[in-house]
Amino acid sequence: MKHIQTVVLIAPLLLATAAAGDNQVATLRGVPPLDQDGTASQIPEVINSDIRKVRNYPDQPPLIPHKIDNYQIDLNANKCLTCHSRTAIEISQAPMVSVTHFMNRAGQTLATVSPRRFFCTQCHVVQHDVRPLVQNDFADVDHVLEFVRSNQKAAD
Ligand code: HEC
Ligand code: HEC
Repeated sequence: MKHIQTVVLIAPLLLATAAAGDNQVATLRGVPPLDQDGTASQIPEVINSDIRKVRNYPDQPPLIPHKIDNYQIDLNANKCLTCHSRTAIEISQAPMVSVTHFMNRAGQTLATVSPRRFFCTQCHVVQHDVRPLVQNDFADVDHVLEFVRSNQKAAD
């Protein structure tokens, strides 16, 4: 019994030394060893192009194509709605929040934006001008459809 205990206690120690030794831990923080601070990378710019982005699937929350620094969203104020609400769009020329934003969870359309759609940044996000940290082979639904069709043709 005593034997097993020693092995269990030593195992994590051995692992830790191995990791510190060759420093080959796969990490997004870059090359500097774990016990040292690297140079801080630059904070990337938010994309502020005002150009609406392609949606990857029809019910994707559209990406925000403008800066939202200091736009307050809390119990008393919602900066987003000062441009995106039904009545604000004539002046702001922003797209209106769609009708789904007025629906409660039973699918009933309310007179005002539903509480479940009040905190806009729960679903809508800005983008930064950066290279992706990890590879991503997401395929747009149109490509999936093309793939299915070409496979069907091949099968026929
Ligand atoms: C000063 C007015 C203004 C404010 C405030 C504002 N927006 Fe916008 N928004 C716009 C305009 C105008 C557009 C159209 C594209 C453009 O000009 O940037 C837009 C575009 C968008 C789009 C893209 C819609 C699409 O169909 O692609 C989203 C999403 C969005 N805004 C979300 C937000 C959110 C979330 C906030 C609050 C954090 C916010 N906006 C605050 C004016 C505003
Ligand atoms: C629970 C997630 C969620 C929240 C919260 C939310 N949205 Fe959306 N939004 C969506 C989705 C999903 C879509 C695209 C499908 C749709 O219209 O429902 C969308 C669409 C939009 C569009 C494009 C409408 C159009 O017809 O092109 C705008 C603008 C927008 N949202 C703004 C906002 C603003 C402003 C808020 C905060 C008041 C907000 N959204 C809160 C999920 C959300």
